[in-house]
Amino acid sequence: MTDLMERPTVLVTGGATRLGFSFAYALATAGYDIALHYHQSADGAQQAADAIMALGATCKTFQFDLSGEHPEVLIESVLNEFSSLQVLINNASAYEAATIAQTDMALLQQQFSVNFFAPLLLISAFSNKCSKGNVINILDNKIAFQQNNYAAYLLSKKTLSEFTQLAAIEFAPHIRINGIAPGVVMPGEERTEDYIKWRVAGIPLKRQGRVDDLISAMNYLLNNEFVTGQILTVDGGEGVNHLGRHAEQFSDRDIL
Ligand SMILES: NC(=O)c1ccc[n+]([C@@H]2O[C@H](COP(=O)([O-])OP(=O)(O)OC[C@H]3O[C@@H](n4cnc5c(N)ncnc54)[C@H](OP(=O)(O)O)[C@@H]3O)[C@@H](O)[C@H]2O)c1
Repeated sequence: MTDLMERPTVLVTGGATRLGFSFAYALATAGYDIALHYHQSADGAQQAADAIMALGATCKTFQFDLSGEHPEVLIESVLNEFSSLQVLINNASAYEAATIAQTDMALLQQQFSVNFFAPLLLISAFSNKCSKGNVINILDNKIAFQQNNYAAYLLSKKTLSEFTQLAAIEFAPHIRINGIAPGVVMPGEERTEDYIKWRVAGIPLKRQGRVDDLISAMNYLLNNEFVTGQILTVDGGEGVNHLGRHAEQFSDRDIL
């Protein structure tokens, strides 16, 4: 990272908006050139690239629908522009509410194609073409829960979590593969302030997560060369806040 010509490149999927842009910007600040993938946010991608290039990094944008049959083609497109590809951040995600009873094949395909099939095939292509490197899969702290209202989304993220460990074994020692499971950091615009306060009340550390909390997790996973196959949950303890019922809570009035 000393010579501008030798800067390593990171591919950030879904890098035009929200957390993906924050990851790309932080990585550019840390000395990476940026392959910024987007799907529909063309204006956002251009604004993101302008902001990143203002830092002195090279940034090129790649438009691609990751729900298609050959998401791995994205790796070839990036390598045509950047021979120094060393890091893949699988951040792009589809997020649709539906219980199991409301879930059909189309929804399963949509959620799994973006959230699981694409990361798997991108990692496979990355490992075939790049002799060494680092992958971070962006998960969700909800993998610790059984929230059936987001059944297909949740199952796709749980599967990606398991896959992170499986892939870490297959692609060691040349490629390290880890995951970050964020809690409530950047809720969708439809979420009200009251909703966020209510969520924070259930978080042991009693605050919403900050983007910097995720970036520090990302830097740790990228920089610690003895860590692979790990899921770093960054959620203020929400995912371990399962007290369950126990004898000291029980009183006769609880008998049904
Ligand atoms: N926000 C949070 O607090 C939070 C909490 C837990 C987990 N996470 C995880 O963190 C990551 C980022 O979260 P976020 O809230 O920033 O994500 P987001 O806004 O829901 O979506 C991120 C990106 O996914 C891309 N995308 C969606 N469908 C696609 C498709 N078919 N092909 C290619 N790209 C597609 C979109 O690209 P375009 O806009 O270009 O179409 C979008 O920029 C996700 O993996 C999410 O599950 C976030």
